[in-house]
Amino acid sequence: MSPQKTVSIAVIGAGVVGGAFLDQIIALKSDITYNIVLVAESAGCLISRDYSGIQFSDWKKQLTEPNEEQLTIPQIIDFLRKSPNPPILVDNTSSAYIADFYPQIVEAGISIATPNKKAFSSDIKVWNQLFAGNPTDGLVYHEATVGAGLPIISFLKEIIQTGDEIEKIEGIFSGTLSYIFNEFSTSTPNDIKFSDVVKTAKQLGYTEPDPRDDLNGLDVARKVTIVARISGLPVENPQAFPVQSLIPKQLESIKSADEFLTKLPEYDHELTQLKEDAAKENKVLRFIGKVDLKTKEASVGIAKYDHSHPFASLTGSDNVISIKTKRYTNPVVIQGAGAGAAVTAAGVLGDVIKAAQRL
Ligand SMILES: NC(=O)c1ccc[n+]([C@@H]2O[C@H](COP(=O)([O-])OP(=O)(O)OC[C@H]3O[C@@H](n4cnc5c(N)ncnc54)[C@H](OP(=O)(O)O)[C@@H]3O)[C@@H](O)[C@H]2O)c1
Repeated sequence: MSPQKTVSIAVIGAGVVGGAFLDQIIALKSDITYNIVLVAESAGCLISRDYSGIQFSDWKKQLTEPNEEQLTIPQIIDFLRKSPNPPILVDNTSSAYIADFYPQIVEAGISIATPNKKAFSSDIKVWNQLFAGNPTDGLVYHEATVGAGLPIISFLKEIIQTGDEIEKIEGIFSGTLSYIFNEFSTSTPNDIKFSDVVKTAKQLGYTEPDPRDDLNGLDVARKVTIVARISGLPVENPQAFPVQSLIPKQLESIKSADEFLTKLPEYDHELTQLKEDAAKENKVLRFIGKVDLKTKEASVGIAKYDHSHPFASLTGSDNVISIKTKRYTNPVVIQGAGAGAAVTAAGVLGDVIKAAQRL
């Protein structure tokens, strides 16, 4: 019998996704041993200096009494490169600072699994470094950067490997904007105001603390950048293609989120007009990310869809992505929760398992 495989796991960030990830990996039953050697929060970290794995009783409580001060990323790299078992770093933050270290982490032979979009949607040079394919580099998995736990990135990569060619990707990539447009523009015309839906979305906790961070379209543009690059369109960065912002120009520079929400109703008429025009054509409005590999174009913005289209019947905050390929001339449609602790953490854990199996 071959000895059981063991990997060293370092987790940075134990928030919504990171907390669910810890719950899931601690409970995991597997023929691979996952030694969690580091859990780092901003305030400090738990660390197993001999790489035998932290003994968990109640990780939340244990994290309130961290056994070491916060380590710097270079210190974490140094700790992991000395691991006797293959190391995997799980970045469960949205930190651009940590993402900037990814090329160094991978070059040090440390694999990465992460839901953090920053590194994959920044300058194309970083992407090329991360996927250079040097045999001594660590592996990189980031399924949860698009559609949370939905199998979008793995599906795209797999069909491309088999020789298929992506022709068009179109989708609702933001749970927040999915909810907002599903409520605002329905098949039964309503007089709900855009600003009221945004306020409700914020009250339900669906938006970022400042809803402008959802309404500016950048989050969708980052996801479109990622799927475009995987599909063979090497977009330079998320600003390199048209992105429609839903923030009225006059409200862009307003300081507080509260003042923004108070003034937003003054601009409702523009979107109400668009919604009414769409309704006259028996269509609804949706906020879409698109990649067209034939015209080599990407874009993000509002589009109109017939009531019979899969995007029109969406409810809640689901994501839906339609993928048309040379073989799938009738597009593959992947739909489901595009956010949430359990599903996102499962996407990250799936990546950790894939990396561990290959190491
Ligand atoms: N939530 C979702 O449904 C969802 C879905 C898809 C993708 N994602 C992605 O998943 C990632 C995590 O999201 P989240 O919702 O879990 O965010 P979150 O609740 O804010 O958690 C982030 C955690 O990272 C920690 N952190 C930040 N910078 C750190 C640093 N330099 N060192 C150590 N710890 C650090 C934070 O700790 P402190 O608060 O102490 O700084 C916090 O605990 C993001 O990239 C997000 O875009 C989330």
